[in-house]
Order: sequence, then structure tokens, then C-alpha cells
Amino acid sequence: RQPRITVVGSINMDLVTSTDIFPQQGETVRGEDFHTNPGGKGANQAVAAARLGADVHMVGRVGDDTFGENLLHNLQQENIDTSMVDQVANTSSGLANITLSEKDNRIIIIPGANNQVTPEYVKACEETILASDYVLLQFEIPKETIEYCIDVCAQHDIPVVVNPAPVMPLSPDQWEKASVITPNETEAAELFKGRYDEIQEKLVITKGKEGVEFFDHGTQKNVSPYKVEVADTTGAGDTFNGALAVALAEGQTLTAAVQFANAAGALSVQKLGAQGGMPTRQAVDQMLEER
Ligand code: RIB
Ligand code: NA
Repeated sequence: RQPRITVVGSINMDLVTSTDIFPQQGETVRGEDFHTNPGGKGANQAVAAARLGADVHMVGRVGDDTFGENLLHNLQQENIDTSMVDQVANTSSGLANITLSEKDNRIIIIPGANNQVTPEYVKACEETILASDYVLLQFEIPKETIEYCIDVCAQHDIPVVVNPAPVMPLSPDQWEKASVITPNETEAAELFKGRYDEIQEKLVITKGKEGVEFFDHGTQKNVSPYKVEVADTTGAGDTFNGALAVALAEGQTLTAAVQFANAAGALSVQKLGAQGGMPTRQAVDQMLEER
């Protein structure tokens, strides 16, 4: 049976400007390129999981603009169940304004319809959530909705992967209810400094060029990164999260799941666009075999 994963989260259109030079205040520069790509941390994680073989259900909302149509269509083409993605009237779709250079990316998100993913909206999709092997959450929808989802999953013993990005604090008992928490290094420092101990076993910290750190029955482990040519790191974290959920839902050990997700993340950065380089199952399995 395919593992069944529900993603409750954001759907954005990424407006991506590539440039060698960032403008100073008041300055105009000439950029290199412009693309619109489907994105949003929720949708990205859903696409990553679907390409790796999971039966993925997306719970989210888009606007009634042309971006909304495109975003919905994109999810369907990736074999994701979109019966719980609707178009909100008189609302714009979530947008991400991304500036990409050789060195880094800078992102401004405008939530739009993602702000309408309310607890009430999710409540109507509860049957789907309860039928999941794993639920995936990120922080581009309202905080009350995230808390609501964590509570529902905890009540019904549905394991939930919480990717705390963009960073936002939750109460200690909420973190306790999560099965796995996947901050990057900065997010981990901001959220868990000082009270690392209580949730140590749940933490999987992605450290970019330093690999991934996690704890297995009290011992700290590190999975080393792959050396790859980087075209665009946008969405690498999302690929990691989608892949991690798939492997865990299949019953793989945490160590094996982190290795699987690490390989998927490495493959994803080799092409432009958040969803651009997201790998197939075959590509990840091959990468793992070659290590
Ligand atoms: O994690 C990458 C994503 O963050 C982009 O696709 C963009 O939409 C922002 O939400
Ligand atoms: Na990519």
C-alpha cells in the first residue's frame, strides 16, 4: 500500500527574479531573468512526497485569480488529491517574491488565500486527516490552524511532522505533541535554545552544508551532506520534509528516513525552481545506492 500523507499548508506562486547584483537603497539594477513557478512550503512538500510515491492529499486554499487556477492544476498534474483545495472568492493567491543570486535567495511572502486556511476550514477536512499515515505541517498558515492540527493529530494518534518555517514559536506542550520537528539551524537556535532536552528526540535539524543532525535513543547522529552542483536551493528544505514523511510513513527507521530525505534534498537543488529538481523515487534510491 502507498503511504498516505496529508499536507495542511500553503500554496504560493513564486515570482522569481534572478540577478547578479542586489540593488542598494534607491538604486536600479538590471537583472538576469524572471520566472513564475509553483511554490509555497505546503505545496512543495506535497509535490516532493507525491513524486516519491506517496498518496498525497493537500488541504489548502488558493485565490480566484489566474495564479489560483495554475496552482490547482499543477497539484493535480502531480497526482495530488485536491478535493480539499478550494478557490477563495475575491482573494489573491499566496505569492512569494523571490530574489535569487549565485550566493543566496531572499523571499518575501504575501499569504493571500493561505490566511483563509482557518481551523474551521481544516475541521471540514478532518476525515482525510484521520485517514493519514502522516500529516505534514509548515508555518505559512495561521497559527491557530497549526495548533488545531497538532491537537487533532495528537488526540487520534496520527503522527505529525512539524517544519517550523518561517520561524514562529509554539507553546511547549504543542512541541511535545509533534512526532518530528524539522527546523534548520537558525530556527532551532531561535526556538529551542536552553530547553533542547525535553524534545531532543523529536528534533531533526537541517544544517545545509553541514548535513543533518538528529538524536537516536539519546545519541547524537549526523548525516553528512552530498557534494552537488547547486542551481537553486529554494525548496530544498521542503523536499527534505516531504521525503522524510514518506520514509517514516513507510515504517523506515529515523536514521534511514533522514538519509533518504538528505539524498532527495541534494537532488532537488540541482535544478531551478522550488519544485523543479524534486526527484523521483528511482533517482533517490540510486543516489543512496551509490553512496
Ligand atoms: O520553501 C520555499 C518556499 O518558500 C517557496 O516556494 C516560497 O513559496 C516560500 O513559501
Ligand atoms: Na530546485
